[in-house]
Amino acid sequence: MDLVQLQHKIRVVHDFPEPGISFKDITTLLCDGESFQYAVQQISEFGRPRDVDLVVGPEARGFVLGAPTAYALGVGFVPIRKPGKLPGETIRKDYQLEYGHDGLEMHADAIKPGQRVFIVDDLLATGGTIQSCIDLVLRAGGIVVGLGFLIELQYLEGRKHLAGYETFSLLQYA
Ligand code: PRP
Repeated sequence: MDLVQLQHKIRVVHDFPEPGISFKDITTLLCDGESFQYAVQQISEFGRPRDVDLVVGPEARGFVLGAPTAYALGVGFVPIRKPGKLPGETIRKDYQLEYGHDGLEMHADAIKPGQRVFIVDDLLATGGTIQSCIDLVLRAGGIVVGLGFLIELQYLEGRKHLAGYETFSLLQYA
């Protein structure tokens, strides 16, 4: 398995979910065991030297890559969820969308102050989601030691909002 073969496992669906968007469908990669394992191994290898205590991932596709990365590193996994899903006391980050707003929540006690956190998601697009995740981790007292993505849409320039954070993407679309 190499990165060219891996990229071919992603299905690009034009005009989804709306005209003009080329959706990067990772389900075609996930259903191939060798590809899924390779992707998780590569993201984990980025995290391994960073002395990670916890992996954090946002709903929903961040769970699919974040949880096996945590397992591979032998550390815990903390979910960041859409509002109203977590039963305990939460901290919340609201953010503006093009039309309206949305939010993300994390359990207030999920991260102990000083823990070293690796945030993992499937996709870096505008960077709004990962910035919200960083905000929640920092408010909980965590230290963000890395950001890991399967895919980066470079043309949306999300990375420019992430200066100062060690950021890794396995596959890029220019
Ligand atoms: C997608 C993707 C990332 C986010 C990236 O999630 O999984 O989390 O968008 O976009 P951004 O960099 O512009 O914030 P989505 O909100 O579609 O949720 P899902 O994983 O539940 O489908």
